[in-house]
Amino acid sequence: MRRLVLLMIVLVGLALMLQQPKLLAQGQFMANTLMPPVPIPADNPQTDAKIRLGAQLYFDTRLSADSTISCATCHDPRTGWANHGKTDTGIAGQVGGRNSGTIINSAYMRYQFWDGRAPSLEAQALGPIHNPIEMGETLENVVVKLNAIPGYVEQFQEVFGTDVTTDGIAKAIASFERTIISGPSPYDLHLMGDDSQWTSAAERGRDLFNGKAHCSTCHSGPMFSDQSFHNLGVGFDGENPNSGRFNETNDPADFGRFKTPTLRNIALTYPYLHTGSEQTLMDVVDFYNRGGIQNDNLDLLMFPLALTQQEKEDLVAFMESLTGTIPEVPIPTFPEGPGLPADPGGGLR
Ligand code: HEC
Ligand code: HEC
Repeated sequence: MRRLVLLMIVLVGLALMLQQPKLLAQGQFMANTLMPPVPIPADNPQTDAKIRLGAQLYFDTRLSADSTISCATCHDPRTGWANHGKTDTGIAGQVGGRNSGTIINSAYMRYQFWDGRAPSLEAQALGPIHNPIEMGETLENVVVKLNAIPGYVEQFQEVFGTDVTTDGIAKAIASFERTIISGPSPYDLHLMGDDSQWTSAAERGRDLFNGKAHCSTCHSGPMFSDQSFHNLGVGFDGENPNSGRFNETNDPADFGRFKTPTLRNIALTYPYLHTGSEQTLMDVVDFYNRGGIQNDNLDLLMFPLALTQQEKEDLVAFMESLTGTIPEVPIPTFPEGPGLPADPGGGLR
């Protein structure tokens, strides 16, 4: 009997030893490293023609009911491929309930939307078109409208071998979005051994981010996101806080949880949080320093941080060091057809 126990202990020990490299590797994966190559799904490979088509669709206001709004209206390349509205204004001046995320690097995010309700860029792309307060069009009608435009039919034939379909629209837009990737930030250059844009404030901020302020427990990995959901209490100081991830899972534990957003290029995409309620990065740091907003489901990692003014400034400096070069894309020329014309300005406001 005793021998059996001993044998068990040895076996468990062995199993743990074998496990260890795997655990270490996981730990490494969660460090804030350089971005890996863009993940491309097997059923939607990148081609130049598809990306060109996707760019036209992204900027074409004819995807909206009254030809006034394109994806770029809300995800504007001039403002970090997002916009500075607290929440968004869609068709006929209607105001939505959430702050728009950026599409820069969205290709790296496992979930799209604040509550993660779309599992891929393809699954996300059609949502805004038939959202009544965003582009306000029906998918049936978008397909009819684009099929009446010979320049689009030709391109869909070339790229997908079909006329215009919703599946093709989603795939082309997603392929275009996978090209909107930021270049190296001062932080990335520092990782590569080039400290020409690295500051001592950013360095102190990085240590706080990983240490006293424990930001990296959630903002982990190359995208500064654990690709998961947490409750910080955002919105719980107002009436009817949004239920967040709970909308998708119906799991009470998910009530008020939202996706951990990427912090790459975060200095560009104010205001912050899903409500757009914090205007500056300093405001967000103050929010964390207070421990978030109390509610029954507040994440255990949220508690007052007792940061000094200097420490708060250093954290902001670190986040500012995460701004990389932002892709600039010329507004495409749109194929002409019957019906309302496309806005040659791509729907930018
Ligand atoms: C009226 C403004 C508006 C328009 C038009 C719009 N979006 Fe958005 N977009 C938003 C808002 C607001 C969110 C966040 C909504 C949420 O999470 O519930 C969002 C989220 C996203 C996300 C997820 C980002 C993230 O961080 O999770 C992607 C990707 C995206 N939009 C792409 C598009 C594409 C492609 C189009 C055009 C087909 C488009 N959007 C049109 C406002 C808009
Ligand atoms: C418990 C996990 C967690 C911790 C710890 C955490 N964050 Fe967050 N962070 C999130 C989530 C989730 C959101 C989105 C919350 C929402 O809008 O409801 C967020 C949002 C943000 C935003 C706004 C991003 C945007 O696109 O609007 C910034 C900036 C930010 N965090 C920085 C920090 C800093 C700095 C720290 C450390 C002081 C920190 N975070 C600690 C999970 C976390």
